[in-house]
Amino acid sequence: MLKSIYGTKDVLPKDIGKWNYIESVVKTIFASFNYKEIRTPLFEETALFSRSIGEETDIVSKEMYTFLDRSETSVTLRPEMTASVVRAFIEHSLANQFSLNKLFYIAPMFRQERPQAGRLRQFHQFGAEAMGSASPVLDAEIIILAYTIIKSLGLKDLTVKINSLGITSSRKNYIDILKKYLEPKLNDLSEESRKRFEKNVLRIFDSKSENDIQIMQDAPKLIDYLDEESKNEFQTVQDILGKEQIPFTLDSSLVRGLDYYSKTTFEIVSGKVGSQSALCGGGRYDGLIELLGGDANYGVGFAAGIERIILALQNEETELPELSSLDVYVVLLNKELVNDYYLFANKLRKNKFKVEIDYLLRSVKAQMREANKLQAKYVAMFGGDEYAENKVVIKNMFTGSQQVVPLEEAEKEILLSVGG
Ligand code: HAM
Repeated sequence: MLKSIYGTKDVLPKDIGKWNYIESVVKTIFASFNYKEIRTPLFEETALFSRSIGEETDIVSKEMYTFLDRSETSVTLRPEMTASVVRAFIEHSLANQFSLNKLFYIAPMFRQERPQAGRLRQFHQFGAEAMGSASPVLDAEIIILAYTIIKSLGLKDLTVKINSLGITSSRKNYIDILKKYLEPKLNDLSEESRKRFEKNVLRIFDSKSENDIQIMQDAPKLIDYLDEESKNEFQTVQDILGKEQIPFTLDSSLVRGLDYYSKTTFEIVSGKVGSQSALCGGGRYDGLIELLGGDANYGVGFAAGIERIILALQNEETELPELSSLDVYVVLLNKELVNDYYLFANKLRKNKFKVEIDYLLRSVKAQMREANKLQAKYVAMFGGDEYAENKVVIKNMFTGSQQVVPLEEAEKEILLSVGG
């Protein structure tokens, strides 16, 4: 039997309500902050991702779905959206249309990681990218936006970790200082961290090895070597977050696994999803637009993992609101009336009711069972003596009360009750 690819998941009808609910909350909150949706292709030229995320990162060096297409072009299924959004921003000269572009997306991403709870090979992110302003107010807005959405979904056990990586020159200076600190301890570091020492020393902060964690605890702190500009801007971000009562903590080791960041970085972490605890991550990426061939400009954004949010909701035992159930189930009493029965149901549908009928010509008992299973608010009994008088029986499934109404007035009667 053919099965879905390892690390990918079907979302079945019984679970789609959660997804629809999350997507509607996400869209409503993005709209209130005036972010506009952007959709980009699922795959791009490989160079877009390797250049922006960074050759030495885990994503580019080990996790991308990269292949040669039939014309020998190297293409990659997008592992994240920031690079694609920046590419589209440059390609369509969006900076000429609006000086500030605030964009959002809800889309699938692909990374060939080892699947486990909260880690998939095809997963979904919602996120935002705001391009065109260096203002730290926007950094704060991005964090507030991410936090507001995640909080609105009902999650409680949340921590917002923030850090500043500073501008490139202060970061370079810090990297030299960190290397000097680590050099005499190299033999005590794990093999992975020794490799990172050569290629991407900041990432040693992400090591899971107990010994490495101990060593890094005493390392010089990036925050103590920040340039003045970044320090002041970081203070503004903290002031705004404080006034908005966002519960944040400073985490000087928050370097993030993608190379494009500068200044503010942040993550929102749940205490309820085990080792894959980051629900969301983001930050400022001021050099990226220029790196990808655009005019120098500013950018800041975030992305959150929908599967991880669903997992955290489950683990916190937070129920998302139920999808509204069926308004009317129309039961067919005489099989020979099937055509009129169908047309009657469609008339109700034209009035925007959620209506279901029996397509299988089952017994009345079986149809009633189905109506209960679908949690129909009303059952309309179509046929019988009432039909001969151009009438239909409408039963309120909640109270059990029944009334006989003229066929043409059925929708009015239901509208009065359902709408009211
Ligand atoms: P990221 O930290 O790589 O950042 O991913 C953001 C979120 O996507 C994670 O916090 C996590 O919830 C989810 N995620 C990542 N990998 C997986 C996976 N294999 N399975 C399930 N969920 C996953 C970015 O992608 C940046 N583009 C964020 C950003 C936007 N920075 C600036 N703008």
